[in-house]
Amino acid sequence: MISVLYICLGNICRSPALECTLRHLASERKVNDQLFIDSCGLSSFHAGQNCDPRTFAAAQKKGIHIDHIAQPFHNAFLDAYDYVFVVTEELLEQVKELARPEQFKKILLATAFSSRYRNQDIPDPYYLGAEGFTEVMEIVLDSCQGFLDFLALTPRMD
Ligand code: 4NP
Repeated sequence: MISVLYICLGNICRSPALECTLRHLASERKVNDQLFIDSCGLSSFHAGQNCDPRTFAAAQKKGIHIDHIAQPFHNAFLDAYDYVFVVTEELLEQVKELARPEQFKKILLATAFSSRYRNQDIPDPYYLGAEGFTEVMEIVLDSCQGFLDFLALTPRMD
């Protein structure tokens, strides 16, 4: 089992979209049973809330259902997960400040395996219009596809 954590700021827009998109695409490839996927926010401001309705709508347009409840980041997550993806360079630096040096190599930008948006920030859509959420979904989809291509998991036959 490979464990994957996505981190953004509020855990109501970008990281729940990444979490549920990776699960959706992994399910299409019949490898979802080989992945444990979750997400959290560096801020606990929205903890306990469903995702932003604009994120929900943008994902729904791509056939992806978001059912995540926002939760805050805990330091223990850095030990528990194999891959820790963070949505921007700024937040990546903040997470690294909370990490031990030996954990740095598993902390990556969410776009690290994207073909079209490699190592770019996923912009904060919170104060943007609907097109901001649509753009986020494009980056999310390409990033998750690229990560699954990188993992190159094959369906179990049993
Ligand atoms: P997220 O987006 O980090 O992608 O969940 C945001 C959600 C809420 C806020 C900022 C960004 N906020 O300022 O409340």
